[in-house]
Amino acid sequence: MDMNQHPETIAITAGRPEVVPDGALNPSIVLSATFHAEGAIGYGRYGNQTWSSLEEAISALEGGSTLAFSSGMAAINAVFSILPIGAPVVASNQGYSGAMSLLNSFHESGRLEVRFVDIVNTQSVIDAMKGAALVWLESPTNPCLDVADLAELISQAKKMGIGVAVDNTFATPLVQNPLAMGADIVMHSVTKFLSGHSDVLMGSLSTNDPALFKRLLEFRSVNGSIPGPFESWLALRGLRTFPLRFNKAQENAKALVPKLSAHPKITRVRYPGYGAIISFEVDGSAELTQKVCESSKLISHATSLGGIESLWERRRRWPKESLSVPEQLIRLSVGCEHVDDIWDDIENALASI
Ligand SMILES: Cc1ncc(COP(=O)(O)O)c(C=O)c1O
Repeated sequence: MDMNQHPETIAITAGRPEVVPDGALNPSIVLSATFHAEGAIGYGRYGNQTWSSLEEAISALEGGSTLAFSSGMAAINAVFSILPIGAPVVASNQGYSGAMSLLNSFHESGRLEVRFVDIVNTQSVIDAMKGAALVWLESPTNPCLDVADLAELISQAKKMGIGVAVDNTFATPLVQNPLAMGADIVMHSVTKFLSGHSDVLMGSLSTNDPALFKRLLEFRSVNGSIPGPFESWLALRGLRTFPLRFNKAQENAKALVPKLSAHPKITRVRYPGYGAIISFEVDGSAELTQKVCESSKLISHATSLGGIESLWERRRRWPKESLSVPEQLIRLSVGCEHVDDIWDDIENALASI
């Protein structure tokens, strides 16, 4: 693989089988729990050729070596689970609600000592790092789209000898490469942009550190948080078009931001300047905001993000969402439909209140 190639090319070429006459262009789906003895895999919980193809392709985009997991949450859980009991962890005080719930439960049980910080306040994050084992950075955050100064935080953490893991689900390797910035682990909810068709749940961890890779692999092997071969194949098939989809969705998002900002029924629009997620606040109650989400015809009223189709939801409809997220906040995952059709749908939904 030529690592100087562009991501658009890498996504199409990586993780292919060896070129042999009559060999398949695509990796096959290896549906086997059992493998003949004396090989490198040994058993279906330890490895699988279809996972390996996907892992190779994610590594080609993010750098390092990759492990695929059964979901993004399984990948996040692996990162925290290899830390010693009571290890101090610095993490954002708001971010994906699943990760927040996990961190809160680890903190409350004493499994970890989590120091919750405002990741936009770089100095306060650096202050909290002293004596920590790991800094967990999700940037931009879900759903408020706060952006951390990754370069500065990673460089400070490395000077202090602290591990850094970055959830790169929203930005993707097309926008930022945390491993190239010095992070130890980059995590993805592969469920989102990388697979991109709202039909797969999967996660990944990539690292440049062979010893860390080994610990994470051992954890996955005994924890059993492995992906299915079919899901891995679907994810790799989706990944082939990830740059195309992401670039189109981002172009659509950039065109929608000024229109949303100028709309009289919208009080605030959050957009980090890249990516395909926009969060905006409706001028009205939680009920009216809910009505907007339910009134769309093209945009699906559903949770999740990063798929080819536009989705939106009021995040506070989830009881576990942070109270710091406004009741009127709608998180819109912009898809690849024609932008004029998306805008028509948004305008009509807003006209319902
Ligand atoms: C930023 C982020 N990280 C992690 C996850 C968890 O991923 P999964 O749903 O694949 O477990 C999500 C899910 O929405 C997410 O948005």
